[in-house]
Amino acid sequence: MVLARRTIASLALFAGVAAGCSAPTEGVARGEFLYQNCAQCHGVDGRGDTLVDAPQIAGLPAWYVTEQVQRFRGGLRGAHHYDVEGLKMRPMARTIKSAADVAFVAEYVATLPPADPATTVKGDSAKGQTAYATCAACHGADGGGNEVMKAPPLRQLEDWYIVSQLNKFKTGVRGYSPDDALGAQMRGIAGGLADEVVLNDLAAYIQTLPSP
Ligand code: HEC
Ligand code: HEC
Repeated sequence: MVLARRTIASLALFAGVAAGCSAPTEGVARGEFLYQNCAQCHGVDGRGDTLVDAPQIAGLPAWYVTEQVQRFRGGLRGAHHYDVEGLKMRPMARTIKSAADVAFVAEYVATLPPADPATTVKGDSAKGQTAYATCAACHGADGGGNEVMKAPPLRQLEDWYIVSQLNKFKTGVRGYSPDDALGAQMRGIAGGLADEVVLNDLAAYIQTLPSP
């Protein structure tokens, strides 16, 4: 993977030289160029930065990154006035000006290998496993996600971020828009989770699922 990324980087460099050092106009090279705007928070390797509440995005598939960046751009996500973290992300998504560029940056993010996240939440993973039975229908028993259901992979996410997003769905800070059918689905699910203890248990269990 490291080699592959170096190859991509040198190809991008080569393309840049060939084109008189102008910015690449398409493909994963364009995505890498645009990603310079993202690295300050998500890290050059996409592994996130807890100091700015930016999650690991390495390991997310291109279709989901595209979907979420479009949501932030259009205000389906990150526009709620209580969404402190989403409000940081939304203006960044809006620096990407076209749907084609969103797809290129998503394609680049999808090439970044995820790291196994550190444990930061105390939960009972055995209880979490029981609670996870409801989640498996969409997110997969292995937490690998399901593109047809538009359910993202969860197994590479940090535990603090899982708890934070479940809380956002529960309180309607994410999935608030009447135009957001997928968010509404998760709101319904999260609304049925009793309390913070269950959220922590779920996050603890999801962390035991091996990253790809
Ligand atoms: C100023 C810091 C900052 C920058 C720069 C930034 N982000 Fe984010 N990003 C965040 C934060 C904070 C969140 C978490 C939002 C939340 O809690 O809902 C986030 C969330 C995301 C998510 C959602 C992840 C998920 O699992 O749903 C994606 C995808 C994403 N960012 C992609 C990008 C891309 C692509 C760029 C560059 C165009 C970018 N970000 C630039 C701070 C940033
Ligand atoms: C009916 C299908 C369905 C079920 C069941 C479901 N989810 Fe989801 N989940 C989704 C979809 C679709 C999204 C993406 C929502 C969006 O685009 O905003 C999502 C998003 C998420 C996210 C945000 C991921 C990210 O990267 O930001 C988390 C965390 C999550 N689900 C956890 C769970 C847990 C835990 C359960 C079980 C208690 C569960 N989900 C059950 C469909 C489902």
